[in-house]
Amino acid sequence: MLAFGSRKALAIGEAMIEMADVGNETYRRGFAGDTFNTAWHMAQLLGDAAEVGFVTKVGMDSVSDAFVEQSQQDGLDVSGIGRSEARTMGLYMIELDGVERSFQYWRDTSAARLLADDLEWLEQAVTGAGLIHLSGITLAILSEPARETLFEALTKARAQGAIVSFDPNVRPRLWRSAEETRAVLARFNTLTDIALPSFDDESALWGEESPVQTVERLRRAGVVEIAVKNGAAALTAFCDDHLSEVPTQSVDGVRDTSGAGDAFNAGYLSARFKGCHQEKAVHWGQRTAGEVIRHFGARIPKDRVPEID
Ligand SMILES: Nc1ncnc2c1ncn2[C@@H]1O[C@H](COP(=O)(O)OP(=O)(O)O)[C@@H](O)[C@H]1O
Ligand SMILES: [Mg+2]
Repeated sequence: MLAFGSRKALAIGEAMIEMADVGNETYRRGFAGDTFNTAWHMAQLLGDAAEVGFVTKVGMDSVSDAFVEQSQQDGLDVSGIGRSEARTMGLYMIELDGVERSFQYWRDTSAARLLADDLEWLEQAVTGAGLIHLSGITLAILSEPARETLFEALTKARAQGAIVSFDPNVRPRLWRSAEETRAVLARFNTLTDIALPSFDDESALWGEESPVQTVERLRRAGVVEIAVKNGAAALTAFCDDHLSEVPTQSVDGVRDTSGAGDAFNAGYLSARFKGCHQEKAVHWGQRTAGEVIRHFGARIPKDRVPEID
């Protein structure tokens, strides 16, 4: 079983301004993004047991200030949030049409796209981490040279004892082609210790017919710990050379499944960070995800966050 070398856990990626349609031509502002959601839940789940930080770039404007301030208030270490003078945060809107929700994004020129432009800055931001979590979205928003810079920083962090966790979170519209997506994901699999994919993404990208095939491909790439999420269906897990299937408990009152995978990652990684074995980590992932889908939005209300014992 993997062991974490420090109490510091980091997620790297993009947080966006969220504008959620609440009717009456009115939007409510929030902040969200896959790796940010994972870091946020980890900070709530772990409390004083760890230092959880988010690594990204935002602007120098007031909304970026509000994001940093709120993240800090919510218990995140914000020392890895860099500032860009020329850019600001990406934004998305959630439009409601009855019960149907649709998403529109403005993120092509977000500051987060610059998060890996400066190797020295990035190395400094990830130094001392016991766990570094990132996703396919983190990679999709970067230029090709920036991906190489990130690869270099992660390689160095790993050599210094960091464990790298990766959720492919495949979003075709962020990539130029499926070929590019497969090539970049395969490259980053070579420095992934823990893979947390979702089967619907993997089957669409790789043509895999079962989660076991996903596990086999990741194992061939050298990944030693894997949990393949599959919505309400059973989860396929691999750890210590052992393959297992874990049923997913049914959840009452599912309202909005967005952010389920991100919350799962947070529960899973928090439990592993506390020294739990994979079986218990899957349980915590499922519990955290099972709670987030009972609420609108990608985060659990603060007073509903479960406590890991
Ligand atoms: N309908 C559901 N009922 C119960 N649990 C669910 C449901 N949908 C998602 N989950 C939980 O959330 C996790 C992640 O969901 P999944 O849909 O696979 O990821 P993603 O949100 O990345 O697409 C699952 O492993 C499961 O624990
Ligand atoms: Mg996902």
